[in-house]
Amino acid sequence: MSELNNIALKILEKGKGILAADESTATMTKRLDGVSVPSTPENRLLFRETLFSSSSMKECIGGVILYDETIRQETSNKNKIPELISKMGSAPGIKVDTGAKILAGSPDEKITEGLDGLRERLKEYYKLGAKFTKWRGVYNISKDYPSKLSIQSNAHALARYSALVQEYNMVPIVEPEVLMDGEHSAKDCFQKTSKVIKKCFEELILHKVDLKGIILKPNMILAGNKSKDKISNEEVAKLTLKCLKDSVPSEVPGIAFLSGGQSEIEATENLNLINKYNDTNFIMSYSYGRALQQSALKFWSKNIDDINGTQKVFNHRAKMNTLAAQGKWSKDLEN
Ligand code: 13P
Repeated sequence: MSELNNIALKILEKGKGILAADESTATMTKRLDGVSVPSTPENRLLFRETLFSSSSMKECIGGVILYDETIRQETSNKNKIPELISKMGSAPGIKVDTGAKILAGSPDEKITEGLDGLRERLKEYYKLGAKFTKWRGVYNISKDYPSKLSIQSNAHALARYSALVQEYNMVPIVEPEVLMDGEHSAKDCFQKTSKVIKKCFEELILHKVDLKGIILKPNMILAGNKSKDKISNEEVAKLTLKCLKDSVPSEVPGIAFLSGGQSEIEATENLNLINKYNDTNFIMSYSYGRALQQSALKFWSKNIDDINGTQKVFNHRAKMNTLAAQGKWSKDLEN
């Protein structure tokens, strides 16, 4: 088994998932503004350090995606953040894209930037302790979108990124996110997501990326948030599985979903059903940002000194999702 395959499998072993704590400073500021906490480097660190030292890190969180600011920060006891995460038995990871910008030629769409100088940045992140990385391509759905140009150019960037990351023996998380925003049906989401993922793998193969050493981070198949088309959680799970079965090569060891604006419970329930019906060899787990942190952030904002209380809220969410990643969750466990 290759070293990269080992890292990917270890991150997702036994129902473990990934904590996506890689919000850029601008995004984190939005989240902190939402709970009326000033967005200072100290506050950003305090909240994140509280999560990273929670007891659920050991049994639930196989990897943590960090932002550039956080990977360089030190805890109150002078521990480097990547060291704290490793000590908790988890793997430190790093977001390496520099954000989605307007796509020239199709200004309503986005292209993710960050390839220039990436090899040098990866070298530094590896030295800082990163074992895996993340790059997010983002696609919106409408009658004409995502365009061929957006599908092609984002897939190309994801593949070039992945090839560079594997040079440094780190596992690239490949994240093509088809957004939930809009009036589209689940069927539209299914068709467009399938197209996007298939093109990503075409490019990953062209760029000679070792598919056994990546983790795919897709969206689930959902109806748009303004859609009249309401589908059941069972249908979400079945469509998501069908899409991935048809589009993802069997070498890929694991799939870790983003939550993408679903509520905490919805994201857990859908993941649980996906695992109940999973008839593939893919590990199906989570790489949640909002769906792991929302309640903890809300609690913390009102009780900033209550580390144990905040950790309790986070531990519960992490535990629920780890059960869901094994198809063992049920609603009554939430109380
Ligand atoms: P959400 O789970 O909040 O969608 O965040 C995941 C992520 O990493 C987005 O890039």
